[in-house]
Amino acid sequence: MSSTPFLLTGVTGGLGAKILDDMLDKHHVPASDIIATSRSENNRSRFEQKFVQFRVADYDRSDTLVKAFKNIDNLLFMSSSERDNPKRNREHENVIEAAKQAKVKKVWYVSLAFGGFGDTSKIGFQQAHYETEDKLKNSGLDFISLRAGVYADAFPLFLNWYPSTKSVLLPEMTPSVTEGKVAFASRDELGEAMATLLAKGLADFPSIQPRTEKNIILLTGPKAESLVHLVDAINRGRTTNMPVEYLKPADWVEECTKDDEGGKPRAWFEARVIFTQGVCDGDAELLDPAFETLLGRRPETGTETVERLVKEDSGYTWHQNHARLALLSGS
Ligand SMILES: NC(=O)c1ccc[n+]([C@@H]2O[C@H](COP(=O)([O-])OP(=O)(O)OC[C@H]3O[C@@H](n4cnc5c(N)ncnc54)[C@H](OP(=O)(O)O)[C@@H]3O)[C@@H](O)[C@H]2O)c1
Repeated sequence: MSSTPFLLTGVTGGLGAKILDDMLDKHHVPASDIIATSRSENNRSRFEQKFVQFRVADYDRSDTLVKAFKNIDNLLFMSSSERDNPKRNREHENVIEAAKQAKVKKVWYVSLAFGGFGDTSKIGFQQAHYETEDKLKNSGLDFISLRAGVYADAFPLFLNWYPSTKSVLLPEMTPSVTEGKVAFASRDELGEAMATLLAKGLADFPSIQPRTEKNIILLTGPKAESLVHLVDAINRGRTTNMPVEYLKPADWVEECTKDDEGGKPRAWFEARVIFTQGVCDGDAELLDPAFETLLGRRPETGTETVERLVKEDSGYTWHQNHARLALLSGS
């Protein structure tokens, strides 16, 4: 039986959908060369309408993975949106085991950019990415880790911002949140870059050399900016004058938990303090030219993305910010 060039997980989500659309529409990869997956059989028709093959793949159900990954050249392994890290790690282990069993030729893992090319970030969900990368490294599989820049689109999460917010409350950290910077990236541009890489292949970009034994390609934006810069961008985009106020981390958690518009629990805000510490420590500040090389133009900066998003929609929300079900740390 001949193999199919691409199997893409995560294509019902924002990043994966952009990757699939660009592969089809921009790079003209034949639909028959792509298998789309979802945990739900209900998504079959939306892909088959585009003549893209469909298989069910649920990271939590190994049987679906072994079946789905049969006769695949390239597997786009989207990190799970599961927020419980031990569970997420188990799911990712299932994916790696199934890829080994099915003898997938190459795995492209969508990781995250905290730690740059290193493994030093203490942020919980980044630790889960490190663990998955370690498992890939030890699996014998041919793999690349695409460490994706932090989504600028997710700014409501980082600032606990809602369209009704009158002032942004942030934890007082050392170094301060005005100093800690992130090389944010827009989700659509990340999808565009990943689609280009998958469709054209790494050999087309000789300047992009995967680094370390984890074969990392770092896709980070062109400028490192602080959370306060993002607040300035919201103010520019919505022509508001929202100030930033600070509280000691424990008081910040207390205050935010009191009457959070999204009803998020204490554990969510506690995890945000660890996240903000990572931001302030510069865990995601490293710039790398690979993203620009793949796009063929300078990527948007985080503040450009935020200003554009709130100009386009002054009531902009990020889904996880409003999820009352986001009971543990948000990613
Ligand atoms: N770089 C960043 O700043 C950043 C920010 C947030 C998230 N992320 C990570 O990037 C991933 C993609 O981001 P996104 O914005 O596209 O997320 P999204 O819109 O929430 O989509 C998540 C996708 O992952 C699939 N998925 C989730 N858990 C799965 C599982 N257990 N088994 C199989 N498929 C699963 C979902 O497929 P079905 O529901 O159809 O099964 C869906 O297509 C997220 O899952 C998260 O790990 C990165």
